[in-house]
Parts: sequence; C-alpha cells; structure tokens
Amino acid sequence: MTKRIQHWFILLVSVLMLSFTLSAFASEPADDKTRSERLGESSVQGELAGFAGADYWRAVRDGQEGYTTSKSPEHGVLISVPGQAWFILKEKWMSPLGALAIFGSIGLVVLAYFTIGPLRLSKAKTGRKIKRWSLVDRTLHWSMAFTFLSLAATGLALVYGKHFIKPIIPRDIWAMFIYGAKQYHNYVGPLFAILLFTVMIKWWRKSLFTKVDINWFMKMGGMVGKHKGSHPSADFSNGGEKALFWLLIFCGVFITLSGFVLDFPLFDQTRRDMELSNLVHMLASLVLICGFVFHIYVGLVGIEASLEGMVTGEVDETWAKEHHDIWYEKVKDLPENQPKNETSSKSDDKS
Ligand code: HEM
Repeated sequence: MTKRIQHWFILLVSVLMLSFTLSAFASEPADDKTRSERLGESSVQGELAGFAGADYWRAVRDGQEGYTTSKSPEHGVLISVPGQAWFILKEKWMSPLGALAIFGSIGLVVLAYFTIGPLRLSKAKTGRKIKRWSLVDRTLHWSMAFTFLSLAATGLALVYGKHFIKPIIPRDIWAMFIYGAKQYHNYVGPLFAILLFTVMIKWWRKSLFTKVDINWFMKMGGMVGKHKGSHPSADFSNGGEKALFWLLIFCGVFITLSGFVLDFPLFDQTRRDMELSNLVHMLASLVLICGFVFHIYVGLVGIEASLEGMVTGEVDETWAKEHHDIWYEKVKDLPENQPKNETSSKSDDKS
C-alpha cells in the first residue's frame, strides 16, 4: 500500500514537474521573442538616434535636402535657410517701420487738424445742388472703402495682433479671432481686386493729369500756408485726388497680384515666391493705408462739405465753384443741375 502511495506520489510529482517544465518552455520562446524584439528595437533606436541626432538636425537646419514622397517644389527641404532673410525683413524691419508710418500718418493728420484746421467754404452755401456722383459711383466707392478698410484691419491684426491683442485677451478667444481674421482676409481679398478693377475702368479718364494740376500742386491745393483758401483751379478731380487715385491703382495692382499668389498656392510657387509676394503685399498695403489716412481725414473733416457729395450724390453750388471751378462751368447749365423750383416752375408754365 505504502509502495502504491509512493508510486502515485512519484507520478504526481513527475506530472507537476513536467507541467512546470512545459510551462517554462512555453514562456521561454515569448521571452526570447521579446529579447530579440528588444534587440531589434534598440538597434533601430540606435540608428535613429544617430540619424535624428545633433548631426541630423544640424543638416536640416542648414537647409540640406532630404527625401519625401511629396512632389511639391523644394519638398525635400524641411527648413529653408534663405527664409531667415524674409523673416528678418518682415519682422525686424517692415513690421516696426510700417507701424511707425501708420502712427506717423495719424499723428500728422491730428497735427494738421489742430494747426491748419479744416478748409471752410469762403462764401455761404447757395442751396442750389449740383449732381456729382451717381448712385453707381457711390455704391462702388463705399463698397471699396468698406472692403479696403476691413481688409486693412484684418491684415494689420495678422501682422501686429500677436504684439497688441494676444497678450490682453484669453488664448481661446485669440485663436478664434485670428483664425476668423485670416479666413476673412483670404476670402474677401479677391472682392477688393474686382472692385479695384471696376473703379479703374470707371474713373481712369477723369484722373488723367493736366497742366491745371501743376498749378494746384504748386499752391498745395489751397489748403496750407499763404495759399490757404486760394482755391486753385480744378476739373472734376483736383491734383490731389488724381494722385490718390493713381496711388490706389499702382499699389492696388501689387496688392492684388501678390495676394493671388499667396491666396492660391496651387501653381508650384516656391518658398521664395511666397516670401517675395508676402513682402510686396505688406509694403504696398502699408503705403496705401498711410495714403488713405489722409484721404479719410480730408473726406471726413479736412474739406467742408466734401462728404455730402459722396453720401447724397449732390454738392452745393458754392462748394463746386470753389473746389472744382472748371468742372462747375462745364455742368452748371445741365438740366439736372437747375434749381428745383426753377425746373418745376418751367414745367408748370408748360402745363
Ligand atoms: C471713411 C472712409 C472714407 C471717406 C469718408 C471717404 C470720402 C470720400 C469723399 C468725400 C470723396 C469725394 C471727393 C470729391 O467729391 O471730390 C471720395 C472720393 C474717393 N475715394 Fe474715398 N473715402 C473713404 C475711404 C476710401 C477708401 C478706403 C478708398 C479706397 C480704397 C477710397 C477711394 C476714393 C477714390 C478713388 C475717390 C475718387 C477720387 C477722385 O478721383 O475724385 N475712399 N472719398
């Protein structure tokens, strides 16, 4: 009996040992796999560490070309070295000088208001109205003014927002704001191009310079110094308005062309093309913004009763005579410019 128990005991121990051995063997290959995997991983990591180590990043930073499956121009270059020149020109030069120019223009306008003051009409208004701007002209002007000013505001936010707005508002609001500004700028930009083109077609003829404009410039538009109130001769547009018109067209063409290059990067533009377009876009826009600071001042307060024409379409006879005498002589006898009561009494006579 004892022998039998001994047998059974030996058998049990053997089974147990066998099962332990088997389980040990069963886990052994997994352990081996992990080890080999670990070996493989460490060699790959080693390779990567060598590859993506200091030397690798130094090469990337130096603009060395690598390999990608992308087919776009300069696809293998992760960091563009000449891009540093663009960054310095934009951030260290154009951006601060632009801010200085805009604040300088606003400062000059404020100074002009307090030292020279608005140009008032020399004589009292007669009440007779002269047709100056059609409804189409006014719609065009105000659509372009709104488009330009809103693009200027969003463009300035994109350049200067990180310095002036970002530090004072919560991060999420800033993110939403700057994303919205970018989208607005990208989508409304082409509308400005269309309006600019329409304005050019519609107003270029009356904006051609003539001899009369030389005298207007020599007398500084009758707005300053000893010439103030002298009302130099002018046709429909005076020398200053013509200069502003051509500045708008000249800068506007650069702004819209460079804007299209930036807005539609679908034509294999290289980084250099984008950087150059960005600098041209920014420079032309800053010049135009400064120019229009003066235009807005003159239109709103600088010349008495100017705004009336662009709002109602009509100007007072005194304003027309004093600021655009040549044009006034041409249009004063047109039926549409006859005093209303005269026209109605004539039609009363007919009836
Ligand atoms: C609040 C903003 C503005 C005001 C108050 C304003 C006001 C005026 C006024 C009163 C005139 C008519 C002058 C006249 O009858 O001789 C005018 C003309 C004009 N404005 Fe503006 N303007 C503004 C913004 C703009 C902007 C942003 C642009 C262009 C982007 C612009 C472009 C023009 C042009 C091209 C003319 C015609 C000048 C000419 O050739 O006679 N204006 N503006």
